[in-house]
Formats: sequence, C-alpha cells, structure tokens
Amino acid sequence: MNIQENISLKSFNTFGIDKKAKFFVEVVSENEVREAITFANKKNVPLFILGGGSNILLTKDLEALVIKIEIIGIKVLEENEDQVFVEVGAGENWHSFVIQCIKNDWAGAENLSLIPGTVGASPMQNIGAYGVEIKDIFKSLQAIHRDTLQMKVFNAEECGFGYRESVFKNELKDQYVITKVVFALKKKPEFQIEYGAIKTTLEEMGIKTPSIASISQAVIHIRQSKLPDPKVIGNAGSFFKNPTVPFDFFQKLKNTYPEIPSFSNEQGVKIPAAWLIEQTGWKGKTFDKIGVHKNQPLVLVNYGGGDGYEIQVLSEKIQQSVLQKFGILLHPEVNFL
Ligand code: EPU
Repeated sequence: MNIQENISLKSFNTFGIDKKAKFFVEVVSENEVREAITFANKKNVPLFILGGGSNILLTKDLEALVIKIEIIGIKVLEENEDQVFVEVGAGENWHSFVIQCIKNDWAGAENLSLIPGTVGASPMQNIGAYGVEIKDIFKSLQAIHRDTLQMKVFNAEECGFGYRESVFKNELKDQYVITKVVFALKKKPEFQIEYGAIKTTLEEMGIKTPSIASISQAVIHIRQSKLPDPKVIGNAGSFFKNPTVPFDFFQKLKNTYPEIPSFSNEQGVKIPAAWLIEQTGWKGKTFDKIGVHKNQPLVLVNYGGGDGYEIQVLSEKIQQSVLQKFGILLHPEVNFL
C-alpha cells in the first residue's frame, strides 16, 4: 500500500476540478481498507472514500486521507432457474459491470448503462435511470465499519433506499466503507421500456423485439445525445434532484404554467428540475470556464480549468432563481466537499 502526499485529484473527479488531497492511497483489498483507516486515525485526519468521483464537487483542498477503492472482481455466488446472484468488487467500473451482465445474459442492469462511477458508489445514492434504480437488482452489500473495522452485511431493507438516497448518505453517513455489492439479476428479462425516449429510440433503431443488449444500446444512444461525456467536458451528471411537491401546490403552479411537465407519485407530484431551470433562463449559459449544459440544464459543466467553488456559487444562483419564480427549493444531488 503506497500512501502518497499532496496529490492532485483532477483526474479522480469527473468535474475535472484541480484540488489536492493531503494523503492519497489506492486500496485493493479489505485488509488494505483497514490499514488505510488505521493510518488516518494515527495521523488524526478525516477519511474520504472515493469511487469514480462522479458525484462530487471539490470546492477546496482536502485535509484528509482520500482512499480510492480499487477492489475488483465479478463472481457468481449462486444461481437458480430465475436468478443469478453476482458479487462485485466496489472498485469495478459501473458500466463495465453492466456490459458483463449483457454478455452473460443477466437481465436487470441494462437501463443503467453508461452511468459514470463505480459499483461501490452505486448503492450510496441508489443510482437510477430510465425507470430502473439499483434497488431493483440489489441483494446485499458488505461494508467495513470505520471505528471498529468490523465487516457488516446490509440487506436491501437495511440500506434504506429512496430516490437518490440511502442510509449511507443519512443516518450512517461517514460510518462505513462499502467493499462488495451482491446483485440479483434475472435470467428471464422483464423489459422496462415505458420511459419516454427508450421506446422511440428502439423504433428508430428498427428494433421490434427488444433484448437486453438493444435496450442498453438505446440507453447509451439517449445518454450520449443528451449528456456531456465527462472525459470531454467535466460534469457530474444531474446536479440537482427532481423535486416532489404537494398536490395542491402543484395545482396552483399548473394554473399559472399549464404546460408544466409532471409525474405523480405517492408523495406528491415530481417536476423535472431541468424544466424549472430552463424556464428561469439558465439553460446553455456559459460563464468563462463553467456553465449550464445546452442540452440538459440539470447538468453543470466545467469546460476546463473551472473552479469548484464557482460552480457551487452558480448552483446557488440557479437555486435562487427557481425559488423566486416557482417557490421550489432545488436540492443538490452532487455532494459538496
Ligand atoms: N426537460 C426540460 N428541458 C430540458 C431537458 C429536460 O424541460 O432541457 C424536462 C422534460 O420535461 C423532460 C424531463 O425534463 O421530459 C425529464 O428529462 P430527462 O428524461 O432527461 O430526465 P431528468 O429527470 O432530467 C433523470 C435523472 C438522470 C437520468 C434521467 C433518465 C435525476 C436527478 N436525474 O433526469 O440521472 O439519467 O432521469 O432516467 O433524477 C444523474 O442522476 O446523474 C442522471 C443523469
């Protein structure tokens, strides 16, 4: 295990923000996770666990030990007629895992193609896209407690999954290091193609009978046409969550803005934050090195050399505009550091 000092994190966050870590280490096993935690305790510095760095905004240098999880491996634990249980190292790239699922004919992850980040980070915020969330294919995970260094297995219920939420962002924040995740994939696919663009994209591709591979291709096509590639333009996907408002509040909004898009759920009415941001005039706006993406205003971007703190300030201005115009406070999906 090689602990480095004063390392730039530029290539370790998809926003491409150039901030430093006081200490930095890549760990390949559970024992190395324990060693790294012990080192941080000895140096009396906080820990920061890094997956793919695809959901963070670095606003300052980190006076911490940054642990980059590189635990890899994809292993079938058990299978029956309907399901296959697959254990995946937290450091595996999410999309590479989805590709493995498709190659093996394991269904369930195809709608989640091309999401940046690692497998270990996926349960943290219950990643989701095109009508599927990780909770739909999740079986359990293993995590090491930061104080006791003991391993604990969490089942789905214990993870407290919600919309871009889990217990690891809330009650158990900063308490565990996720090392492995077990997924329950299906041998008989149940296709989820109701979400808007998937159906039309499959039609455009001339596909009449969908397969997990063709759905994955459709999702990749939609994402590539709408979302900037972090390798080309720094970004962390959706910057804000889509807000849910009470039904009567929504009715009043609808009277003023009859064209407002909406999706009802048990809690109320979900409104696309992208629409709210577009209506307040921010879509496609550029401010020197940073800006709001031209195709998907929910995505804030760093065109190169941008500063994390400036992106934070921009996000606060957007929040203010949306709050003033619609009376809705947008909550960031990205974690600020
Ligand atoms: N819209 C606009 N203007 C735009 C773009 C979108 O008004 O410029 C409105 C439209 O009404 C559109 C609606 O927003 O129908 C929804 O847009 P989209 O399908 O692009 O999805 P989203 O709600 O903006 C969410 C996730 C994405 C995920 C997509 C597809 C959140 C915060 N974001 O975005 O996740 O890929 O759905 O399922 O829930 C991410 O979390 O990083 C992410 C990219």
